[in-house]
Amino acid sequence: MQEPREPYLLTPGPLTTSLATKIAMLRDWGSWDSDFNDLTGDVCRRLLAVAHAGTTHVCVPLQGSGTYAVEAALATLLPWDSKTLVLTNGAYGQRVARTLKYLGRDFTALDTGDYLPPSPTQVDEMLAADPAISHVALVHCETSSGILNPLEAIAKIVRLQDRRLFVDAMSSFGALPVDARELPFDGLVSSANKCFEGVPGFGFALLRREALEGCADNAHSLSLDLYDQWDYMNRTGQWRFTPPTHAVAAFASALDQHAAEGGAPGRLARYAHNKTVLVEGMRAMGFLTLLDDRWMSPIIVTFHAPGHPNYDFKTFYQSIKRQGFIIYPGKLTRVDSFRIGCIGQLYEEQMRGALSAVRAALDEMAIPDGAPRLEDLTKPIF
Ligand SMILES: Cc1ncc(COP(=O)(O)O)c(C=O)c1O
Repeated sequence: MQEPREPYLLTPGPLTTSLATKIAMLRDWGSWDSDFNDLTGDVCRRLLAVAHAGTTHVCVPLQGSGTYAVEAALATLLPWDSKTLVLTNGAYGQRVARTLKYLGRDFTALDTGDYLPPSPTQVDEMLAADPAISHVALVHCETSSGILNPLEAIAKIVRLQDRRLFVDAMSSFGALPVDARELPFDGLVSSANKCFEGVPGFGFALLRREALEGCADNAHSLSLDLYDQWDYMNRTGQWRFTPPTHAVAAFASALDQHAAEGGAPGRLARYAHNKTVLVEGMRAMGFLTLLDDRWMSPIIVTFHAPGHPNYDFKTFYQSIKRQGFIIYPGKLTRVDSFRIGCIGQLYEEQMRGALSAVRAALDEMAIPDGAPRLEDLTKPIF
């Protein structure tokens, strides 16, 4: 009898990784050994190259999930007398604001709700009105809805107003274009288990060298001090504390595969195709996307829950899981929704498989189509 395969993860990370990435974890590495130090150095150089940031920025990896890297980068980059304008339109923007509260750094938020992008004009006005704002923080792809925020337009305003830019590019870097020669960021954070398709275990920050050099005394926490991590790595080639060796080895292999796929443009093309197949197929079943096409990212798509009285997310989820696909619950504050990711080792075949699983789940639940509740249909479309 054939073994049932493990389910495909249609989620925003951890995600489905390749066999080569998994196999790369079969070797044990000495954390102080030069082989492992070389591996870390190589990974950092390659990440900088993806962002064309090799001459302006440094890459500092940090043990832990992405949130640790975001918190550490904020704690390290932001002086105690800084004030940050946080642009929020979902859970991860709100998390940046919450982090600043913990860190005791002043901030003001521009919250545009669950599915509206921040308006560059409004950001411009807020910066003009408050000269105390020194930094602007933006989530590139707000994974809670899948919205792709207007990074380039916001960055342009931040530069014109002579402020500093921080980007949470957790779910976008590696697929969506980031070019430090044109995008004037001081800090950009991502993690191993997103668009580079590594396994969880560490995040990393690309930090403007000039800015970081003045940040020796900013961090409130030893383990989250990226200046100290950078300085120690510079001097020794080593991570300060036990590194996630297997995750770094897997990531080095994932980077090889990323390059072989054509780098970020190649990956973006596959994800964009996945998204097109998914959205067309879901719409053909009557599902409504939360976002209008122009705001939708090729990372993850939010769909309104079906309005039929038989619908229940857990039953729907379990049925799809039994068929070999794991989807993601919604993360919106007001609307009942669910999400389906397009990233990871997923191709058209898997997206079509997931669509068939959704159709079969609806049939099992005796729901004719994915049509949302009437009130969802009347929401303004952005
Ligand atoms: C945009 C964004 N920021 C931050 C995070 C937090 O990362 P983690 O869950 O790895 O801590 C995520 C996770 O999905 C994310 O998508």
